[in-house]
Amino acid sequence: MINVETASAIDQKEVEVLIVGIPDHPENVEGFDAFVESFHPSLPDWIKSHDIQQKFKAITKMPALSEKSYDRVYFVGVGNQKQLTEQPLRELFAEVGKQLHKDRVRTVSVWTAPFCNDEIDSEDVAFLASEGIGMGSYTYEGFKTSSNEVDVPLTTVTFITTEDEERVTAAGEVGMISAHAVNEARTLVNVPPNLLTPTKMAEYARELAESYDLEIDILGKAEMEELGMGAILAVNQGSVEEPKLIVLKYQATEQWEDVIGLVGKGITYDTGGYSLKPKDGMVGMKGDMGGAAAVLGAMAIIGESRPKKNVIAVIASSDNMISGEAFKPDDVITSLSGKTIEVLNTDAEGRLVLADAVTYAKQAGAEYLIDVATLTGGVIVALGHDKTGTLTNNKAFYKKFQEAADETGEFIWQLPLTESDRKRIRKSDVADVNNSPGRDGHMIFGGGFVGEFVGDTPWIHLDIAGTSDAASPHALGPKGATGVMVRTLATFVERLAAEAEQQE
Ligand code: BES
Ligand code: ZN
Ligand code: ZN
Repeated sequence: MINVETASAIDQKEVEVLIVGIPDHPENVEGFDAFVESFHPSLPDWIKSHDIQQKFKAITKMPALSEKSYDRVYFVGVGNQKQLTEQPLRELFAEVGKQLHKDRVRTVSVWTAPFCNDEIDSEDVAFLASEGIGMGSYTYEGFKTSSNEVDVPLTTVTFITTEDEERVTAAGEVGMISAHAVNEARTLVNVPPNLLTPTKMAEYARELAESYDLEIDILGKAEMEELGMGAILAVNQGSVEEPKLIVLKYQATEQWEDVIGLVGKGITYDTGGYSLKPKDGMVGMKGDMGGAAAVLGAMAIIGESRPKKNVIAVIASSDNMISGEAFKPDDVITSLSGKTIEVLNTDAEGRLVLADAVTYAKQAGAEYLIDVATLTGGVIVALGHDKTGTLTNNKAFYKKFQEAADETGEFIWQLPLTESDRKRIRKSDVADVNNSPGRDGHMIFGGGFVGEFVGDTPWIHLDIAGTSDAASPHALGPKGATGVMVRTLATFVERLAAEAEQQE
């Protein structure tokens, strides 16, 4: 993880790069005149002539023109400083992070004043810049043997501030923890499926549990058979890889009460099973454990920040393969809840493993539930690649989640789940529910199916099929896994904890 430090003046710290924001009116930034004097008296002219750009996010690089504590300056366009808000600032620093990584920079200072206004102080800048730089500088190296590019990691970000240094450092560290968790989730998704099996994911979770002192339970096939987890077992039937139900508990209060359950889809590879995916549709299905990665990332943040809220994470992990033993359309299976399921489509496997995971979470004490899954292609048709589709059975619970998403800048959008949708999920001649009522509006059927196992427990469903993977570089990172929902899940739990403490 990238180190965070602070200093009260630019010249206190030797770094490779100094970041200087250039807003529309740099002369209003406190300390700007002094900077001009030390850097070069012509700086205002260069800004006026647009040799140094003021346009939002534009980066102009210059060497230090005399012996300084920095080798180079990256001038970053801020635009209207007074109207700067959190998400654009996060994205601005992600752009800086990308550039720093490209230029193989190890040490950087960020002078906070040019990014501050009435709403945003140095602590906010430190948090947002750390998140942004941390996420923006991420890359996944892969396994290229011919690559002669040695990855040079950024080691330290120093914030130059005249405000309370301890608090600014702390805020920066919180941002780095958040970015690091996102990046870990991204890597889990980016790792190829021959390497990230359910067993490997369970090992990863075990290490996480050790690092953060979380309770962990890992159920294998035998334990699932004993409990009667017929849905996840059916999905796993065609596989040579053992399924794993990964259960992490973070206990914050004496009593195991008021527990929130985070449930993740952890399909390490989705071929579709006998309802086989076409060859082009199969590529990329290593990412079908994006929900699991989001939950693990959130647990890392929770493990660090230790909010006063009990959390259980349940991850249902398997791959979805074909063989003589695989499950097939027309099969009827009995889930952990006792509900029977008619399988109409083996490619609708996510809702099956989630059904058992949600039931397990409830039995283990969860009184609130959030499931996260790369569940349907339907959500991509409906909302594209930058909006996570959601369902809920509880408006008040959802409203609080929306506030957390607003805080992190991760866009979510609710779709309706109606009685007529439920009817179609319950329509079967041979079982209680069917796993594929149709292709029309099928994001709703995917989540709605999970809802059948949730019952009245306040619940939110997050379909991240469109947002978990990016086909090209985006504002906060490179192409590939995005680590979406890591920050919102953790922020939501932290907000619930803060709310509960206020009521005490
Ligand atoms: N893992 C897929 C959903 C998916 C699609 C994720 C594209 C990421 C990108 C899921 O298991 C699936 O195959 N869903 C089917 C459901 C259908 C059979 C009812 C789908 O979306 O087509
Ligand atoms: Zn599928
Ligand atoms: Zn799937």
